[in-house]
Amino acid sequence: NLQATLLDQTIDSPFLNASGVHCQTQEELDDLAQTKNLGALVTKSATLQVREGNPNPRYYDLPAGSINSMGLPNLGYEFYLDYVTKADKKPTILSVAALSAADAITLLKKIQASDYEGPTELNLSCPNIVGEPQLAYDFENTDKVLAEVFSFYTKPLGVKLPPYFDLVHFDKISAVLNKYPLTHVNTINSVGNGLWVDIETEQVVTKAKGGFGGVGGAMVLPTALANVRALRQRLNPSIKIMGTGGVTTGADAFAHILCGAELVSVGTQVIKEGLGAYDRLTAELKEIMAAKGYTSLSDFRGKLKEL
Ligand code: DHB
Repeated sequence: NLQATLLDQTIDSPFLNASGVHCQTQEELDDLAQTKNLGALVTKSATLQVREGNPNPRYYDLPAGSINSMGLPNLGYEFYLDYVTKADKKPTILSVAALSAADAITLLKKIQASDYEGPTELNLSCPNIVGEPQLAYDFENTDKVLAEVFSFYTKPLGVKLPPYFDLVHFDKISAVLNKYPLTHVNTINSVGNGLWVDIETEQVVTKAKGGFGGVGGAMVLPTALANVRALRQRLNPSIKIMGTGGVTTGADAFAHILCGAELVSVGTQVIKEGLGAYDRLTAELKEIMAAKGYTSLSDFRGKLKEL
């Protein structure tokens, strides 16, 4: 079986959508709620106010992935908070994005005061907002924000992180996160500020920010696996890891779990293939497990071997 857990709930599949993919509108969320082989769903990162997002084109398929500069288009936190409070078809995670430290506090105070008791994920890593840094690249500020958050917040809370590329950075972010009662860490967000060049037109491929944008899909798999592994080696065992990034096959999901992921999110591949991707990934993961004689995800989760 492919059972995994989300908080204290057992879910039938380890697959999640990656936030941002097919989860912005009521219709899209309803589609996810009815998608077989999707264990839980996460909403598009919500901000205090409704946002149109950046100008089009703002998503572009690459040969081995994608680049986007969406700019957090979303219907505003009230819509998503209402959606997750009423959701009864599938376990649901509310994602909220902090454009500033003050916004994070305001948003989480609203959630704290609401009837919603389920999991929330604070996105500390949106790479596409003009003029705003990714908060989680500033370790001191992240610490300050979380200290303030946990002075009042008592509901289940995780964070979405950007990719790190230096082992000392893994040490630093883990030391900060281990101070707080986080339920989970979702890693990685898109690899920020990549650039693609169309040789024929001699142009960039997305409009905002001169074409710089977040990179996802197959080409970020090694970075995603490294972040899952390095954080699993450093974070308190009570902080579960949701692995996100570069999953296009069941083997990729198997690798994420071997690195320590509790759940595995799929983003770019679902844009390319549609929601049927979850059926294929599930079949492929089951086939690999059967060939190896594994009967549950816990048989191999976190058990990556070194040479
Ligand atoms: C957006 C936000 C993200 O957190 C991300 O990884 C990619 C895109 C956005 O809406 O711009």
